[in-house]
Amino acid sequence: MAEALKIGVAGLGTVGASVVQLLEKHKGQISRKSARAVAITAVSARNKSRDRGFDASGFDWFTDPVVMASEADIDIFVELIGGDNGAAEQSVRAALKRGIHVVTANKALLARHGVELARLAEENNACLNYEAAVAGGIPIVKTLRESMSGNEIGRIYGILNGTCNYILTRMEAEGISFDDCLADAQRLGYAEADPTFDIEGNDTAHKLAILSSLAFGTEISSDDIYLEGITSITTADIQAADELGYRIKLLGIALRTDTGIEQRVHPTMVPKASAIARIDGVLNAVAVDGDFVGEIVLVGPGAGGNATASSVVADIADIARGDETPALGMPAVDLKPYTRAGMRLHEGGYYIRLSVYDRPGAFAEIARCMGEAGISLESIVQKRHPGIEAPERYTGSERPQPVTLITYETTEVAIKEALETIMSKGVVSERPQMIRIEKLN
Ligand code: HSE
Repeated sequence: MAEALKIGVAGLGTVGASVVQLLEKHKGQISRKSARAVAITAVSARNKSRDRGFDASGFDWFTDPVVMASEADIDIFVELIGGDNGAAEQSVRAALKRGIHVVTANKALLARHGVELARLAEENNACLNYEAAVAGGIPIVKTLRESMSGNEIGRIYGILNGTCNYILTRMEAEGISFDDCLADAQRLGYAEADPTFDIEGNDTAHKLAILSSLAFGTEISSDDIYLEGITSITTADIQAADELGYRIKLLGIALRTDTGIEQRVHPTMVPKASAIARIDGVLNAVAVDGDFVGEIVLVGPGAGGNATASSVVADIADIARGDETPALGMPAVDLKPYTRAGMRLHEGGYYIRLSVYDRPGAFAEIARCMGEAGISLESIVQKRHPGIEAPERYTGSERPQPVTLITYETTEVAIKEALETIMSKGVVSERPQMIRIEKLN
């Protein structure tokens, strides 16, 4: 067997510690399957004395990951620091410039600099592998780069953030408050260092930008994603969705349209019978529509140390085996420029929740506004949901009541205009809630 591949791991947090433990436990089987031994020889973290559950005394220790990437005697640099600039970016660039392979779990870095880093890797005959960056333990990067290469992909969508899915699932099942669910997700190690990245949808957007490039062969564009997080979702919406036959999930969706690629992240109503509706807790799921294979759905843990380490080590094993698949599935110079399909042109059904003054003609006014915008209604329900109390200042017949509407397919521009008109008529007491419905199998 050839000489062992020497690995340097930068970042010894939850994922880094799991990578060290996984490699220790399974190094024998990995070496046999790859016909090459692998061994961690160097690590980088700031605090050497912290107990991480393993003995680090046999590794070369670097407090500065950039120094490790620039000087250490290693073949693979594993970046588990995080962040789209600073030490993570500098160390990855330094390693690639030396022709050292890079394995990273850093979606923010790839979403921002992925094309440039892929070029740098190719110029220096190095691999840039990042299975762990998207959907944690689910092998979706390999699926898109390799297994789906015979298909033209029309749409890719999924639950890409375990923290949001965990929060929405518990709010629905246990009626627990948003804040308590988020605190539990942080305690369990699912959430980002700054959890606003999870709940405002940025983490999902980073992952979607990478998937979109792999699916459509276009340059990564993470700034051009329509973004809405889950902070506006109430238990009233979750209950109304349930009664109407839907569940609410934070989805990242990218699809090919006549005018370009539509990329969006938002809370989405999905039919209860769809595969994606049944994905609960910290699980992630990614669905890919290929023109020959049809739809495939991959489900698995999207966050947590061991699941993420599983993908990091699979990337190491690919390098040990000699797999040189380009980072973005094709040479980076051949990627097409990204063309954005504007959100105004988005077409679909919508769930609308209004707080409507209970007076004669209010319903008729709403129906008229919808009709004048060319929007046809599939259902309109007025029903007091538990937990929604009308503000005390309204009395008698004027008390606002929750009204939910489901529209047939329409455009984003039409629904927004209709809601502005409804608000201008003085029939609702607060801004309407609007959640897009995704057509799914
Ligand atoms: N904070 C992320 C999540 C971790 O909740 O899914 C994996 O990227």
